[in-house]
Amino acid sequence: MTESAPVPESMTAIVIDEPGPATALHVATVPVPPTYIGEVLVNVAAASVNPIDTKIRSGVSPTSKALDYPAVLGHDFSGTIARAPYEAHPLSDGTEVYGMTRLPRYSGSHAEYVSAPTLCVAPKPQTLSHVEAASVPLAALTAWGAVVDVARAHHGQRILIHAGAGGVGQFAVQFARFFGAEVISTASEDNLEFVRSLGASTVIDYRATRFDDELSDVDVVIDLIGNVSDDTGSRSLRVLRNGGLYVNVPTGSFPTMADEADSAGVRATRFTLTPSGEVLAKITRLIDQGEVRVHIDKTFDLADAADAHAAVETGHTRGKVVLTLATS
Ligand SMILES: NC(=O)c1ccc[n+]([C@@H]2O[C@H](COP(=O)([O-])OP(=O)(O)OC[C@H]3O[C@@H](n4cnc5c(N)ncnc54)[C@H](OP(=O)(O)O)[C@@H]3O)[C@@H](O)[C@H]2O)c1
Repeated sequence: MTESAPVPESMTAIVIDEPGPATALHVATVPVPPTYIGEVLVNVAAASVNPIDTKIRSGVSPTSKALDYPAVLGHDFSGTIARAPYEAHPLSDGTEVYGMTRLPRYSGSHAEYVSAPTLCVAPKPQTLSHVEAASVPLAALTAWGAVVDVARAHHGQRILIHAGAGGVGQFAVQFARFFGAEVISTASEDNLEFVRSLGASTVIDYRATRFDDELSDVDVVIDLIGNVSDDTGSRSLRVLRNGGLYVNVPTGSFPTMADEADSAGVRATRFTLTPSGEVLAKITRLIDQGEVRVHIDKTFDLADAADAHAAVETGHTRGKVVLTLATS
């Protein structure tokens, strides 16, 4: 076991005092979060920003909100264990790990230290830097859940994945391809080649072509957009084969999904991710074997978290946006 530096009582974090715009984010000194039974404390080297962080910050998330203020936001992290659950635990002090906090209640990762259940943490991929590793957990676990657990991606299956260039989409395309499915995806012109390079055989420029004019008899749609943009959800139901499966990921983005799917003769489900260190360990193997890669669009210093949120809120970042700390 490695001896870690003593854990201080307070730390630097990015906080909000109430829901608001990105400019509401500011640097503060706050207590280092406590750890409870079955949890680790991680000294954060890098932490990515996900759309859910911006939705919690602005107060628009229908499912997640900060429970206490000032609130430290952020789910994903990569860093080193500063406090193991007990002396002989495999995640011992000094182990390089990555993972995510539990939605929505745990301490946030946009800080020097974060606490998380050991069930949500795994050893960091050896082939990735902390910045790269921090970009993986929430997005890759979502992609795995939708593509592998729900859609059961396999050879002979045709899967349409909307937003293949985004944080979740980049993993969804690669996982579906890895498990043998034929992958069709949507992206804007600048991202067509990027999404092809991830393994999609067909990438449709959604601004130039209506995907429902081009496609039919698709087995599964993984929808990372929903009806918030150009009726993507409703139009996706029309490209499915009879009995095909529509998977809606952004919470609240397609309220009429069940009725519309019934009328269209297809199956439909919402999806929400479950944090899992066990699944993350499987993803680690794919990354370290070179089967899956990660793309970082931009990095920002922790103190510039407002700029990072603004970038994510454009809805057009490629891959992920990551915050770096002094230790990364
Ligand atoms: N339910 C859950 O458990 C869960 C978990 C994770 C994420 N989510 C939600 O899932 C959504 C996707 O998450 P994310 O992290 O992948 O977001 P993201 O990284 O912000 O997605 C950005 C990508 O979306 C693409 N895009 C934007 N509009 C598009 C359109 N109309 N058609 C096709 N592509 C489009 C952009 O590509 P271009 O620049 O080429 O347009 C960009 O690359 C978010 O709403 C997020 O909150 C839900």
